[in-house]
Amino acid sequence: MKTRHVALGSHDPTIVTIQQHILQEQRKHSPHATGSFSWLLSGITLATKMTEARVRRAGLLDVIGEAGGVNIHAEKQQKLDVYADEALVHCLGVRENVAVIASEENEEAIMFDGRNGTGKYVVVFDPLDGSSNIDVNVSVGTIFSIFPLPPGFSTEDDEAMAVLQRGTQQLAAGYVVYGSSTIMVYTTGHGVHGFTLDPSIGAYVLSHEDIRMPEQGAYYSSNDAYWETFPEVYRDYLTFLRTGGMGRRYGLRYIGSLVADFHRTLLRGGVFLYPPTDKDPQGKLRLLYEANAVAFIAEQAGGFATDGRRRILEIEPTGIHQRTPLVVGGRSEMEQFQRFVQPDVTRLDGQEELSHALT
Ligand code: AHG
Ligand code: MN
Ligand code: MN
Repeated sequence: MKTRHVALGSHDPTIVTIQQHILQEQRKHSPHATGSFSWLLSGITLATKMTEARVRRAGLLDVIGEAGGVNIHAEKQQKLDVYADEALVHCLGVRENVAVIASEENEEAIMFDGRNGTGKYVVVFDPLDGSSNIDVNVSVGTIFSIFPLPPGFSTEDDEAMAVLQRGTQQLAAGYVVYGSSTIMVYTTGHGVHGFTLDPSIGAYVLSHEDIRMPEQGAYYSSNDAYWETFPEVYRDYLTFLRTGGMGRRYGLRYIGSLVADFHRTLLRGGVFLYPPTDKDPQGKLRLLYEANAVAFIAEQAGGFATDGRRRILEIEPTGIHQRTPLVVGGRSEMEQFQRFVQPDVTRLDGQEELSHALT
């Protein structure tokens, strides 16, 4: 029987799964890598596939509606939030290289015991973002960040110390949008890449290689119901965008799921804002498992993210669930925002800070 020799790589080159991509990235950028990171990431992709299956059948599986519990923010936990959280806790729990995790749905960080030194990574996540949209069939998502376990951290230490790291420490960050298709977008610090879940093979396949944010977009994205309580500088900036100050009148797109609003901003450009409001004077979004991942991805794609004063990635976290204002967008919109919030900063310095962040 004649054997057929298939030269490596002669298979269909258009199909690159996320696992292959991560291994290729690791070979390219950290040749000494042991594949341990891709083993970790496979835990996240598996958990999101489990959640995706539930999202697609939400109306049929009675996962809509409240699970009865409330999370630490006194927000009613919808069943899908709880399921998505349990999927991630389980899939990461069986990865011996994950030492500590933190989730929007759990008040405290969780340290997996019995790791005896194999734990190398910390994972923080929002298991289901945009949960208020589940039962009206609007896109929801999952957001995650991966950090190194701080050197010298021991099982006697408080696990919160392992998760309270600045965004610049992220090894990787990503999100999944359960939308018209299911797309995972991630970065390991070498560009931003998107993968679409192919249900026929149950794999995330490369669909958006090296995503770059457009220099300027056409939309701003904010919940204008809070207009009166936005700080004045935000209202001035948005009025500037709306009235053609940047050479065109911006439209408004706002879905109410950060992952969906950010994904559109990443691909089409523009700016997303969740400013301080009277209801949430510190902003509503959470620094650790929403803003940091979005900021890392935005900067890797040529954009920028700030809390109105500081680069998001440089904020020193003090609490797992701490909130932050978030303004994230393309270069033009963010440079213009910088002019509004720091008019006294001479352009050069401001430019340096921004350009430094945008390199
Ligand atoms: P989550 O469902 O994880 O609590 O996140 C919801 C967040 C975010 O997804 C979205 O941008 C924001 O809430 C919308 O808030 P408003 O409804 O106040 O606009
Ligand atoms: Mn969220
Ligand atoms: Mn959530």
